[in-house]
Amino acid sequence: MKKILVTGGAGYIGTHTCIELIEAGYKIVVVDNLCNASLEGLKRVRRIVGVDIPFYQVDVRDKVGLTKVFEVHNFDGVIHFAGLKAVGESVEMPIKYYDTNVGGTFILAEVMRDFDCKTFVFSSSATVYGNPKMVPIREDFPLSATNPYGRSKLMIEEFLQDVFVADDAWNIALLRYFNPIGAHKSGLIGENPNGVPNNLIPYISQVAVGKLDKLNVFGGDYDTADGTGVRDYIHVVDLAKGHVKALQALDEPQVLIVNLGTGNGYSVLDMVKAFEKSSGKMVAYKIVDRRAGDIATCYADVSFAKTKLGWQAERELDEMCEDTWRWQSQNPDGFLNETFA
Ligand code: NAD
Ligand code: UFG
Repeated sequence: MKKILVTGGAGYIGTHTCIELIEAGYKIVVVDNLCNASLEGLKRVRRIVGVDIPFYQVDVRDKVGLTKVFEVHNFDGVIHFAGLKAVGESVEMPIKYYDTNVGGTFILAEVMRDFDCKTFVFSSSATVYGNPKMVPIREDFPLSATNPYGRSKLMIEEFLQDVFVADDAWNIALLRYFNPIGAHKSGLIGENPNGVPNNLIPYISQVAVGKLDKLNVFGGDYDTADGTGVRDYIHVVDLAKGHVKALQALDEPQVLIVNLGTGNGYSVLDMVKAFEKSSGKMVAYKIVDRRAGDIATCYADVSFAKTKLGWQAERELDEMCEDTWRWQSQNPDGFLNETFA
């Protein structure tokens, strides 16, 4: 049975991926510094899968701490989720973002090399396409970044490609996620942002549950069908399954670059309507100015993922909203209430 290290495995995408990995027959170990997660999420994962998951509260920038984990476990590969992801915060705190995202990946790669563990799955983002000239976005489109978060993802992609050029024993997947939403069917785990959410779906769901008054729709004058921004929302469980497929595809040295999206674009107002339907709640909104740095339309060309990974997203928009709502309505305060010992 293969053993995989999941960094950032206590977070939103990490917890969902832990479940899919275990269900696919992998052994996993989680490393997380818990700066944006709580142990309660992992406890709930254990409850869902009925398997104990070794956990180390270690920062990926801590080479000594990481080395100790690698001394205990013999890993076949690493899925690297650990990092910071708030675009606005990255503009205010670039040093923190480059240190954590880029610096953390350097240290992790060093330790992996030292232990001859050379299978690496990296959480990249559709943000590396900048403002694409056309949609759907293919993996070979030009890359650019407009903020430190995006630049940190681009730098890591380039760093990992350099690592492969120097030593072609590495086996690397750069997975470019579009917009993950939704939650596990159990309603036990889901996205749990700190403070006021930056992202659309956590914001809408907090309006629906009564924690926030109304949604500010950033821009009603984009060149889209209804004037609001269009994105490719993907169910987090489909995204998690994509990681399992990527690991399975890393059967020989390569750098594999894959979009993980659905190929469908929905506008902000489509999302408001879909969420109202799934939750049975009204989502009050107001159209305000555009948010700096936002683009009009972003959705994936998913044909390469289909051919190369044998993977495609299966969950439709209604299911994404229903699952988000189940999580949000059953856990209005996120993981604050401990439910399991
Ligand atoms: P998340 O914040 O829920 O998960 C990240 C986890 O990493 C958290 O549990 C956090 O505590 C941990 N972490 C942060 N810094 C760490 C460090 N220095 N050492 C150890 N652990 C650390 O975020 P997520 O949505 O699950 O995202 C996971 C990854 O996917 C991130 O790299 C993110 O940039 C990337 N990504 C996310 C999205 C999205 O919209 N959610 C889109 C594209 C890419
Ligand atoms: N939006 C609003 N109001 C809000 C929040 C968002 O109208 O309160 C709009 C945005 O303008 C955009 C859409 O909803 O049109 C989606 O916005 P999100 O903030 O949810 O997502 P983004 O597409 O801006 O960015 C997200 C992540 C990035 C990642 C990118 C691609 O935040 O880190 O998806 O994966 F890079």
